[in-house]
Amino acid sequence: MSGDAPLKTASGMNDLSAFWMPFTPNRQFRVAPRLVDGASGMYYHTPDGRQVLDATAGLWCVNAGHCRPSIVAAIQTQAAALDYAPPFQFAHPASFTLARRLAALAPGDLEHVFFCNSGSEAVDTALKIAIAYHRMRGEGARTRLIGRERAYHGVGFGGISVGGMVNNRKHFGPMLAGVDHLPHTYSREQQPFANGQPVWGAHLADDLERLVALHDAGTIAAVIVEPMAGSTGVLPPPQGYLQRLRQICDRHGILLIFDEVITGFGRLGAAFAATRFGVVPDLLCFAKGVSNAAAPLGGVLARGLVYDAFMQGPEHVIELMHGYTYSAHPMGVAAAHATLDLYTEENLFARALALEPVWAKAIQGMRDAPFVQDIRTIGLAAGIDLAPPEGAPGKRGFEAMRNAFHEQDVMVRVSGDTIALSPPLIVSEAEIGEIASRVRAALESLA
Ligand SMILES: Cc1ncc(COP(=O)(O)O)c(C=O)c1O
Repeated sequence: MSGDAPLKTASGMNDLSAFWMPFTPNRQFRVAPRLVDGASGMYYHTPDGRQVLDATAGLWCVNAGHCRPSIVAAIQTQAAALDYAPPFQFAHPASFTLARRLAALAPGDLEHVFFCNSGSEAVDTALKIAIAYHRMRGEGARTRLIGRERAYHGVGFGGISVGGMVNNRKHFGPMLAGVDHLPHTYSREQQPFANGQPVWGAHLADDLERLVALHDAGTIAAVIVEPMAGSTGVLPPPQGYLQRLRQICDRHGILLIFDEVITGFGRLGAAFAATRFGVVPDLLCFAKGVSNAAAPLGGVLARGLVYDAFMQGPEHVIELMHGYTYSAHPMGVAAAHATLDLYTEENLFARALALEPVWAKAIQGMRDAPFVQDIRTIGLAAGIDLAPPEGAPGKRGFEAMRNAFHEQDVMVRVSGDTIALSPPLIVSEAEIGEIASRVRAALESLA
């Protein structure tokens, strides 16, 4: 079958069933597919010739906008020059220069990079490094991992174990042993229509002291949090919360991991959320925006103290028994170099920060739109909670997303009944206005 094979069979039957789509109601999708077959800048193109405004940067990842010529050229050049290099025992030079650039972007002494291909792999890598780190230092009893309710850390068994979204967990058995969870930081009563970091909620970090008292610090390897929970509906951290987590981790020798798969590379107006919030984790997971999603790439930034703990013993012995065939894949690395160039040349992180008030005003202005219960904005991200219809959670969100795409030519992301917005950082003020008015229209047509 060629790539041009028709989507319909000769008998006219819908032939979309071979691809088992991820995180998608497959049977429903086949009835009214949402297909895109091109993209440029702020827009997706559909096979029927529509231009769809991308209010989600793909999946929180196309931060510099679509099909940027310099990234395309970098991938094309790389594919012709060096298609693949094994990352175990061999390497290609650009992976070292990329690691140096990422370390330079990161705050504090996050200065070593372990590459992988996705956010899920980055999370599993960080969790494994944390446990192995304690063992390297003779504290092998520290194996417990602490996640948080309402967290999304991808779909590996490690990620769903520390994650806190019930539907991503309940089908998959007992998962990792020895995991506990902090409470999430959202309260509609205490933080309604939050613009930026809510004032209420720093005390929720103190729950880590309760878990230390329950399990003993000597059994806890690491705490992992998204500095801003993204996939669960954009929950900015309460003021002082991350600082308090950092202090408690320090007090008890627990590693702090930030999952910055969404917040990295400008989403909150800085290279990393760690920079914006002034808290340096011991391990930092990244993916998505690092390569503008033009080729898969992810990784973990590690502080010197973590890396150094592994660099001991006989020099011919592998220090960390972990890695992926496609760690630092040349195409991902080339895309990332070109992406970082664009971020710098176009000053996109500062641009996102400068647009934050415009964004907040436009999106918070939707609070009187039909079904809206709460709105949270920070950086160039927003979560809009919709009232679910009686007995059918998720239906309103799904219908809003469908109307937005089919009727209003705007792509939004939904998680349950929450619309999440996260446009590419190149979005103009006029396009921010368009996003708000098209999403409002999509909600009005549901009313
Ligand atoms: C915070 C966070 N961690 C991990 C992941 C998983 O990334 P991937 O889908 O690339 O495995 C995501 C994806 O949205 C994410 O938001």
